[in-house]
This record gives sequence, structure tokens and C-alpha cells, in this order.
Amino acid sequence: MAVIIDGKKVANEVTENIKQKTSELKQKPKLAVIIVGENPASQIYVRNKQKKAEYVGFNSVVISLPVDISEENLLEQIYILNEDKNINAILIQLPLPENINKQRILEAIDPIKDVDGFTSYNFGKLALGYKPYVYPCTPKGILYLLDEYNIPIDGKKVLVIGRSNIVGKPISFMLQNRNATVTMANSHTKNLKEISLSSEIIISAVGKPNFITSEYISDGSVIIDVGINRTTDGLIGDVDYNSVFDKTSYITPVPGGVGPMTIAMLMQNTFELFQLQQSLII
Ligand code: GUN
Repeated sequence: MAVIIDGKKVANEVTENIKQKTSELKQKPKLAVIIVGENPASQIYVRNKQKKAEYVGFNSVVISLPVDISEENLLEQIYILNEDKNINAILIQLPLPENINKQRILEAIDPIKDVDGFTSYNFGKLALGYKPYVYPCTPKGILYLLDEYNIPIDGKKVLVIGRSNIVGKPISFMLQNRNATVTMANSHTKNLKEISLSSEIIISAVGKPNFITSEYISDGSVIIDVGINRTTDGLIGDVDYNSVFDKTSYITPVPGGVGPMTIAMLMQNTFELFQLQQSLII
């Protein structure tokens, strides 16, 4: 029988704490979100981020730019935000349109305002085991949940499925920095079932509905489902929840697991960058 990891509840605790701390501030943290084009899922994410920022008492601005914006004009927007003393955190909603060089855009963010931790400066520090200004939101949320539920990481065999820059790669480094034995898998991995059966914690971030079924899971394993797949059955994860449930010791539901933690960590990162910038002013 599994313990359901209640990401919604933990995320609410985190945001209430930030809300309280923000209410004690004279000047409020400010988050800027850039969205390019009209991807419906991205629009929902951005709206939720803005709503949460307002809820905790931050100032926020959403900059919506047309899908055909030139790279130069987009860079110009980022430079303006970098220079603006009132902006503490910059988020560029991904994915960007195909014709835009994602690397060039993300690298233009001032690392001290890089709320996702996606610049090479912050990601490089993370990979080296040094402290970046902030850690990427989704991996940070996953570790927060594991810690909250007292699930040990040190010495554990962890399988990370998916090698994205947003989740798979950063979580693999963060886990290794906590002495986990990490295996990275991707769509080319040949013996995934064998690897997953010998893993104690499985983190799936592949974006394929019901990709992980009970044949992939050993008794007592911990399942962290990062998938958010919009299907005709509604929002479902990468993991066939009902089929694996009885075998697992802990499992995150979709929705209500990792998703709410990502937004909570975005609020926490915005707050941390604000504090860091305040401490540098004097
Ligand atoms: N798109 C999907 N997840 C993320 C995220 O964590 N940050 C940004 N900027 N875009 C995303």
C-alpha cells in the first residue's frame, strides 16, 4: 500500500510561509514572466504562476510577445528586465518557437535574476556541486517532497527517465550531490525494464501517458511522476497510477504531486533572489 505524496498540501505550506514572510517586507519581490506565442498549455502555466505570485504578495508582470518576434527584439526585452532594478526574477516560459535560438535567449538572463536556474552560470555551479543562486524549480520541488516525507536519498539507487535540461539533467546532478547512485535513461535506452526493476526511486519525466506500468516496478519502490499529459481522459502522468499503486511505498499523483511544487519553488526562488539582491545593494 502506497503513501500518496500530497504535493498540493506541501506546496500550500510553502506558499503560506512565503506569503507570511512577504507581508513583513516593505518592498515586495517582483517576478517578470516572458511568454512568446500562444501555446495554450504555456498560457495556462503562466497565468497560474502570475496568480500565485499575486497571492503571496509579490509584484509581477507578464510580457506577452508575438510568435514571430525576432531574436534581437526578444533579447532587447531581456536586457531591459536585466537593467530594471525593480525586477528581481526573470522567467522565460518554454518552449520557445522553433525559429528562436533557445540557448542564446536563456543565456541572456542575468544569472542573479535567473529564477529557473537555467543559465550556464547557475547550471554549471549545480553540476559541479557548488551553490547556484537558485536551483531549477521542478527538481528542487521533487527533493523538497522526498525530504518532507523522510524518504532517504543517500546511497539509494535512483532511475531518472528523461534527460531534459528542465528536469532530468538537473535532478540527476542534485541527487548525485546527495550521494544517490543515479541512472539516466532516455527513449534510446534498451533494457529499461531491467534497470527500473532494480531501482529504489524512479523519477519519470518523459511526457508519455501510462509509460510506466506495474511490470517496471519492484515492491516498495518510490515513484515520482513528473509527466503532465493532456489526454481525452484529462490530465495524466507518465505512470499508470492504478496499476503500480499497490507495489509502491510512496507515489506522487497527477495532478496534485510535483506540479504544485514547481510553482511553489518558483515563488521560493523569486523570494531568494530578492533577498540576495537586497543583500548586495548595501
Ligand atoms: N516549461 C515547462 N516547465 C518549465 C519551467 O520549469 N520553466 C520554464 N521557464 N518553462 C517551463
